[in-house]
Amino acid sequence: MEGLTVTVNGQPRGIQDAKPHTTLLNWLRDGGLTGCKEGCAEGECGACAVLVSRPDGRGGTRLESVNACLVMLPAMNGQEVITAEGIGSPGHLHPVQHEMAVRGGSQCGYCTPGFVISMAAEYYRPERRDGEHHTPNGFDIHSLSGNLCRCTGYRPIQDAAHALGT
Ligand code: FES
Repeated sequence: MEGLTVTVNGQPRGIQDAKPHTTLLNWLRDGGLTGCKEGCAEGECGACAVLVSRPDGRGGTRLESVNACLVMLPAMNGQEVITAEGIGSPGHLHPVQHEMAVRGGSQCGYCTPGFVISMAAEYYRPERRDGEHHTPNGFDIHSLSGNLCRCTGYRPIQDAAHALGT
């Protein structure tokens, strides 16, 4: 297989020996980005979520939350991925991370990066106020429907999501 390039957290990474069956999740974790977790490995729990930049149909791009356990690495050639490690900046939490931290939404921490990713996708969704199922402040709580919490402590996570509306 020819070489691939995937941009991760703003840094292009060349891949010379990608196996067709290597998942994006395993590749990221093997490369040291262990924020994304393997929970179910079949697209049910969202622990492996990452942001992928996709065309928005208007000539620009949008960030979508994608379950990295379901994506084969070769399919990511030329694409841009943002992991939980790339959400904030050194010394500065992203607003999503901040709200999860101050409201106690991180709990055991295993599902947290996935929730942060899905919240960030909703945070940046351009038409955030246009659809149904919105909270009063414009954050669509259903954007977190693909993320499971094993601690069953959804209330602080929900509180963090509500606080993100503007
Ligand atoms: Fe559960 Fe990917 S590991 S959705």
